[in-house]
Amino acid sequence: MRYAEVQARAKADPDTFWMEAAEGIDWFTGPSKALFDDHAPLYEWFADGTLNTCWNAVDRHVAAGHGDRLAIIHDSPLTGTVHKITYAELQKRVASLAGALRAKGVEKGDRVIIYMPMVPEALEAMLACARLGAVHSVVFGGFAANELAVRIDDCTPKCIIAASCGIEPGRVVHYKPLLDGALALAKHQPEFCVIFQREQEVAHLEEGRDHDWHAFQYGVEPADCVPVAGNHPAYILYTSGTTGQPKGVVRHTAGHLVALNWSMRNLYDMNPGEVFWAASDVGWVVGHSYICYGPLTFGCTTIVFEGKPVGTPDAGTFWRVIQDHKVKCLFTAPTAFRAIKRDDPLGELIADYDLSSLETLFLAGERADPDTIQWAMDRLGVPVIDHWWQTETGWCIAGNPMGIEKLPVKIGSPSVPMPGYDVQVLDEGGHPLPPGTLGAIAVKLPLPPGTLPTLWNAEERFHKAYLTHFPGYYETGDAGLIDEDGYLYIMARTDDVINVAGHRLSTGGMEEVLASHPDVAECAVIGVSDSLKGQLPMGFLCLNKGAQTPPEQVVKDCVKLVRDRIGPVAAFKLAVVVDRLPKTRSGKILRATMVKIADGAEFKTPATIDDPAILDEIRAALSRIGYPSGQI
Ligand code: COA
Ligand code: AMP
Repeated sequence: MRYAEVQARAKADPDTFWMEAAEGIDWFTGPSKALFDDHAPLYEWFADGTLNTCWNAVDRHVAAGHGDRLAIIHDSPLTGTVHKITYAELQKRVASLAGALRAKGVEKGDRVIIYMPMVPEALEAMLACARLGAVHSVVFGGFAANELAVRIDDCTPKCIIAASCGIEPGRVVHYKPLLDGALALAKHQPEFCVIFQREQEVAHLEEGRDHDWHAFQYGVEPADCVPVAGNHPAYILYTSGTTGQPKGVVRHTAGHLVALNWSMRNLYDMNPGEVFWAASDVGWVVGHSYICYGPLTFGCTTIVFEGKPVGTPDAGTFWRVIQDHKVKCLFTAPTAFRAIKRDDPLGELIADYDLSSLETLFLAGERADPDTIQWAMDRLGVPVIDHWWQTETGWCIAGNPMGIEKLPVKIGSPSVPMPGYDVQVLDEGGHPLPPGTLGAIAVKLPLPPGTLPTLWNAEERFHKAYLTHFPGYYETGDAGLIDEDGYLYIMARTDDVINVAGHRLSTGGMEEVLASHPDVAECAVIGVSDSLKGQLPMGFLCLNKGAQTPPEQVVKDCVKLVRDRIGPVAAFKLAVVVDRLPKTRSGKILRATMVKIADGAEFKTPATIDDPAILDEIRAALSRIGYPSGQI
């Protein structure tokens, strides 16, 4: 069947379409129907079926006789190790960990925070929670203690599972002190913590509260898979919104598995037993969906890569991993390829490796710039597929469905909507715009299976953030257009979210941190263009009258403050002190104009500006730190 037919079938009869897709996973009791719309505009999928995520991702493959197949390959250039785990081994390890968690009182519905680097144990912790029906929330290792504390207070975990350390090039990231720091800040305290001690750093364990990963599993009864309802939360994943308070995206169990399982064959063109590599991190949605649950549910081998595209040890690392493990499909963020291209502009290192296993490269997480796509296509000789999605959706909104029909690639477009997504471009009043016209991208409700049903503990915020602006639609927060052929183009965010090296960050959250500096009276953070990371945050600081601290010191303090409060991943290193911020007469900061000045782009002075002279002051302040840098 071709793409247009599949899309038409899903539109005409979504229930039949998704019930058929649901046959791809195992149920204890099958659902009576696909869509549950009694509480519209809140929708649920397969709510009355019962199933277990871990059974689908692990046990069912062993039961089907594939226990010897590799489930996980941990390839860590940062520690110089490669470790392979079969499905049968994974089943044993996960059942044992789940048994130990249960022995300490973790049950269906309890929350468990996981704070771990790219080690197989991170996936095992996720799967052990899933085995018990516990709801995990993985926190990315590049976040600071304060961010971890915010998440602890929001999802109130019974237990926290962490590693003693992570490893970044040239430094060990001390996870345990970060965890201790977070617990000192948090109001909520877990009943216990489990620490996976890595040999690079053995952490101090607090008597009574902290348990060693191995010791606490000793002698326990392994746990079986607990059936949960289709609408039971599988996990909560926090993502940046417009304020410092992150949004807890909830994922329901059944829709999640059905959608991911469907996407493995139809979007990524995979077969069970083949090797899939998402070069991301388990702390992000890409890691949840395509390092852990998607490939494992579909019976593929997944790669857990602990390294960087460059410098571990060089720009040939990706090619070595593809060769050594016979990767069929690589999925990463464009920034990784920009980094490789910068270190090895002609792609000379590619010739040193056998990449014959590689059939497709998928890119997502940020806009894929045409230069990078072209470079990758020319050097790798495989289709390079841009696809667009969000933490909220959990899987692709628009892409090129390689397993259904290899549609022509239009560089600059993530191609066409996936089944179940009715994507439209709307004007401010919520009216659909004609092809080729720029507007807000929205998806007509209901969203397909796998997408967020709500936000954790924040249903009202869910309504306000996504459903209110365009009634009857989900507001994506992205702006763009659809061309005459139905191809989508994603141009910009409509809110204060920026994208730094594929990481989604809130400028509002950074502004809250900067405003807490005693000498800062007012501030603004914008995202300026960067040739490697796509965007970089830049702060503008107005100081209090009579502030005694020299401006250079305030800038240094602010850089440190963001690193300490949000984390190194924010990559906040650029800030300038200015006398005033450009505003409209009604007091709204003109951030978009500031971005244009910093990028050296053309712009019209907004008619509503209060005092146009401030733009010259901004220009002068930027030139002191070398902006515009001419490197867009
Ligand atoms: N734990 C602790 N610190 C982390 C971390 C982690 N898991 N991940 C990143 N950091 C730190 C880095 O060490 C760096 O700190 P520094 O300021 O001391 O150098 C900072 O956070 C920024 O990290 P990163 O964004 O990774 O930038 P980088 O300069 O180290 O590397 C790239 C640049 C392009 C190589 C890197 O961003 C990359 O590989 N990106 C791939 C894209 C990706 O994985 N996207 C995820 C969504 S799909
Ligand atoms: P995250 O929730 O971290 O996955 O970030 C989602 C956001 O990243 C989207 O709303 C977009 O702004 C951006 N994004 C993701 N994929 C793409 C893409 N293929 N093209 C353009 N922007 C993208």
